[in-house]
Amino acid sequence: MRHIHRNSAGELMISDLPVALLAEQFGTPLYVYSGDGFAAYYHAFCDALAGLDTVVHYALKANSSLGILALLGREGAGADIVSGGELQRCLAAGITANKIVFSGVGKSDDEIRQALAAGIGQINAESEAELRHISAIASEMGITAPVALRVNVNVDPGSHAKISTGQRSTKFGIPVADGEAASLYRQIAADPAIRPAGLAVHIGSQLTNLAPFEAAYLELLELADSLRAEGLEVPVLDLGGGLGVDYHGDGQPDFAAYGALVTRIFSNRGYRLGFEPGRAIAADNGLLLTRTHYIKQGEDKRFIIVDGAMNDLIRPTLYEAFHRIEPVLRPSKASGLADIVGPVCETGDYLGEGRDMPEIQEGELLAVFSAGAYGAVMMSTYNTRPEAAEVIVYQGKAHLLRRRRTVEELLACEENPFA
Ligand SMILES: Cc1ncc(COP(=O)(O)O)c(C=O)c1O
Repeated sequence: MRHIHRNSAGELMISDLPVALLAEQFGTPLYVYSGDGFAAYYHAFCDALAGLDTVVHYALKANSSLGILALLGREGAGADIVSGGELQRCLAAGITANKIVFSGVGKSDDEIRQALAAGIGQINAESEAELRHISAIASEMGITAPVALRVNVNVDPGSHAKISTGQRSTKFGIPVADGEAASLYRQIAADPAIRPAGLAVHIGSQLTNLAPFEAAYLELLELADSLRAEGLEVPVLDLGGGLGVDYHGDGQPDFAAYGALVTRIFSNRGYRLGFEPGRAIAADNGLLLTRTHYIKQGEDKRFIIVDGAMNDLIRPTLYEAFHRIEPVLRPSKASGLADIVGPVCETGDYLGEGRDMPEIQEGELLAVFSAGAYGAVMMSTYNTRPEAAEVIVYQGKAHLLRRRRTVEELLACEENPFA
């Protein structure tokens, strides 16, 4: 299943293409993806759930390149979106609206209208106020809106605080506690402008321990069963995303263990199950390639100063996230501590800190592993650095997904009233 690998000479490859060639052709910093890997991981996720009635909506927020959406859409994936912009991306990539779930706590009226007009498959609502808006807009349009209720099960996912969404203290979902979610679901069922689509839960991202999933899913199932016992329809249980990857090791998510857990809890319970995986499909199928500018000896460690920075990959800065970093051409022996840092003028601008790294030469190419998720989608132009370009390798060929903008293009949407 691994499409990003080292060949017998130790050189980093995507399928049969040396990534060093891609760096030469497209420049650095550069995101490179394995399209075959995206497809394979999507199918591995689906296969782990075989035997259940499932629908898989790839979470765009992890990596929303048009080419990747088109590829996954062709493989059968639906999409989980969180904005009108992401809806436009899906439609442009050929994923039809009926295969799209619209998540998020802060949908604007315009976005709700846009989604309903397109024929969205499901809106996951997260507050009573949002339900009021959806209902009013659907009535005005003379249609019924398919709405699932995202619930808050108050489960700590044991992940980084900034990507944990399952606890009561977060902005996400409607509490199951004190009957709040049940009462709102009854309200949905009684609203002629809304068609109840089911219940949704998403407790956080990068879960490597499955126990919090189990706690959340059992809570959701209990609520769904009790609503059904009242005679209400609960067609879908949307179990969200969140399956983590092994950033320190080989990067692969444990699809089989997750599938076994879901099967144990939900088989023969009569629910269609929805899923919103993002990271589990995308992370391991992308690298950020960056070239070394300089080596600088610090007080107690080297600084390997590279051309990739926090504006290209903000996860280390934002979440203290770990990504393996290795030379592209030779997995040589470590020779001492180093920070791998970018050119941005912030001490927080690093791709890796305190790493045992080999000797690295000026001009040498490094690969940042497992960078396919929450990498390129979070790029900025901080320090007036045009974003990294993105390339995908699919069936032996490299394709540009996004070219690097020029500084002139960045400046073109600014006005200077004082010129
Ligand atoms: C509602 C929802 N669904 C799915 C996802 C995707 O999560 P992951 O990339 O961890 O699978 C997220 C991400 O936070 C989310 O908020």
